[in-house]
Amino acid sequence: MKILVTGKNGQLGRSIQKLISNYDYHEFILTGREELDLSSSEIISKYFETHSHFDIIINCAAYTAVDRAEDEADLADEINHLAVKKLAEFANSQNAKLIHISTDYVFDGKNESLYLESDNPNPINVYGKTKLHGETAVLETMSDNAMIIRTSWVYSEFGNNFVKTMLKLGNERSEISVVSDQIGSPTFASDLAKAILNIVSNDNFNKKSFPTEIYHFSNLGETSWSEFAVEIFKVANLECKVNFISSGQYPRPAHRPHNTTLNKEKITNQFKLQIPYWQESLLDFIRIYNSPN
Ligand SMILES: NC(=O)c1ccc[n+]([C@@H]2O[C@H](COP(=O)([O-])OP(=O)(O)OC[C@H]3O[C@@H](n4cnc5c(N)ncnc54)[C@H](OP(=O)(O)O)[C@@H]3O)[C@@H](O)[C@H]2O)c1
Repeated sequence: MKILVTGKNGQLGRSIQKLISNYDYHEFILTGREELDLSSSEIISKYFETHSHFDIIINCAAYTAVDRAEDEADLADEINHLAVKKLAEFANSQNAKLIHISTDYVFDGKNESLYLESDNPNPINVYGKTKLHGETAVLETMSDNAMIIRTSWVYSEFGNNFVKTMLKLGNERSEISVVSDQIGSPTFASDLAKAILNIVSNDNFNKKSFPTEIYHFSNLGETSWSEFAVEIFKVANLECKVNFISSGQYPRPAHRPHNTTLNKEKITNQFKLQIPYWQESLLDFIRIYNSPN
């Protein structure tokens, strides 16, 4: 199959790139901003005039700067919504499948229990709103052959993320303050990349008409950012005290939802995935991060 992956330089894009040699029976076309700038609908149209016949598009690109999005709503909407609509239209016109990645931030975080795919979204920041518009565009454009995967708290050996920031701070400081009233599930990007590549080869997904639906994916279990930091320092053998603070003590431009832990049963059952607990994946990550290669 010919598979287009957008966002090749991002955390998920690079995690997919790292694995594709195991799937050399597929042809992967990897694009970054240089090859396919998603902030311009003209560039997207032009790209697809000269590049076509994809069987699957995996959209890993996104405007992910949650705080900056509060001041750059139009740009965030262009990439997280309008570009996604274009990708969905193109996929539809080519009978290609689309795997689009979305976020737990489409929820307001007020649920007492784990979020199901069928729960009502109600984003409380600009980033979440633009990602929700992207989801809606996919659902409205493609009645079948698309899959929206919401994920949360993504980290990897690539780019900037919470785990890498904690490892850096843990080496520099003896104590730090981290918010304790935001609850969710971390996602090691490598686990999500493996799941996506499994799905791509799954008969159920590859049947002629796969109904478009939303799925949730993150590592299993739940934690707060402060407990996550404690675990990072523990597995990395760093002596750094974590002070638990409230979101109110750490004001940021964008509001964050309180509890966005996702229920993963649907994706696990439908695609027979085995998702590791977040502590297990964190250990894996630290091993990879500390290994010389
Ligand atoms: N990170 C998280 O904690 C998190 C949580 C929930 C959901 N998600 C979702 O998971 C997916 C993958 O996230 P990630 O962590 O891999 O994000 P990431 O590391 O920020 O990567 C996003 C990629 O999108 C690219 N991009 C941005 N604007 C673009 C444009 N105009 N044209 C083409 N490419 C553009 C970026 O390119 P440059 O490298 O050139 O900037 C970057 O490589 C996204 O859909 C995100 O919304 C992420």
